[in-house]
Amino acid sequence: MTTRKPIRKAVFPVAGLGTRFLPATKAIPKELLPIVDRPLIQYAVDEAREAGIEQMIFVTGRGKSAIVEHFDVAYELEATMSERGKDLSILDSTRFTPGDIITVRQQVPLGLGHAIWCARAIVGDEPFAILLPDELMVGNQGAGSGTGGTGCMKQMVEAYEQVGGNLVSVLEVPREDVSSYGVITPGESRGTLTEVRGLVEKPPVEQAPSNKIVSGRYILQPEVMRTLEGQEKGAGGEIQLTDAMARMIGTQPFHAVTFNGRRFDCGSKTGFVEATLALALEREDMGEEVRAMARRLLG
Ligand code: UTP
Repeated sequence: MTTRKPIRKAVFPVAGLGTRFLPATKAIPKELLPIVDRPLIQYAVDEAREAGIEQMIFVTGRGKSAIVEHFDVAYELEATMSERGKDLSILDSTRFTPGDIITVRQQVPLGLGHAIWCARAIVGDEPFAILLPDELMVGNQGAGSGTGGTGCMKQMVEAYEQVGGNLVSVLEVPREDVSSYGVITPGESRGTLTEVRGLVEKPPVEQAPSNKIVSGRYILQPEVMRTLEGQEKGAGGEIQLTDAMARMIGTQPFHAVTFNGRRFDCGSKTGFVEATLALALEREDMGEEVRAMARRLLG
């Protein structure tokens, strides 16, 4: 097997406006909304850490500072908890080696592609991961990092070690739902890996090349930053990552990994509620109680 440059850095674009969750997200970043008792960003960061990624790069914007606070030491809180003899290990997942949490600012939310481009100087000349925190990926056999089975990014890093190049995670959705997502034109498949021959953002149903949608996890080569440079706006008037990736197909290997697990679209209200219910039902400390509660509510 060829030795690849390891994936050491992950970019988390968190500068979006979160308009679908207003008024909840007027003062609180969408990425800090909790699924049970962990904010969305924590699930994504844990997933990256599980995959061996060391540096977390947040692309933030106005009103998003609380995300960085979440991964800082909360001195007063921790001192008071210690005095009261409370267990601080609950905060372990929020701790980082100094220097491993990096933020860059996207001054205006011009789109996902633009957000990624804002991290170009920190990413430098190495392959990197991207995780969209509002897509919660839960690995099979239990759940993702902190919740059970192998997480999505770890599955992707394992695939990357075999094929290198660029990778996106995909899953299949009912045909009528494809126009909300990036869709791949699939080539040959081998196990969970499928060659990507084309990519299109939010196509009309009748023009969609397949029902395999890109689901919020990427491993990309640094050349994507040059492709994003000066890129025109695409679907929805936003600078789209999908368009930049599409332009790289043919110049570098490009594969899709079918994720062995479940994905919850926590950027939508129903997806968020579904994730909350699913994870609460699976928790050892509360699953039984929630199951009884759900039965009562359903009458
Ligand atoms: P979404 O499409 O979910 O947009 O972005 P949004 O603004 O967060 O939410 P709505 O649609 O208004 O409710 C997907 C991811 O890309 C980030 C978002 O923060 C989210 O994690 N993003 C999007 C940026 O960082 N910058 C942008 O300009 C756009």
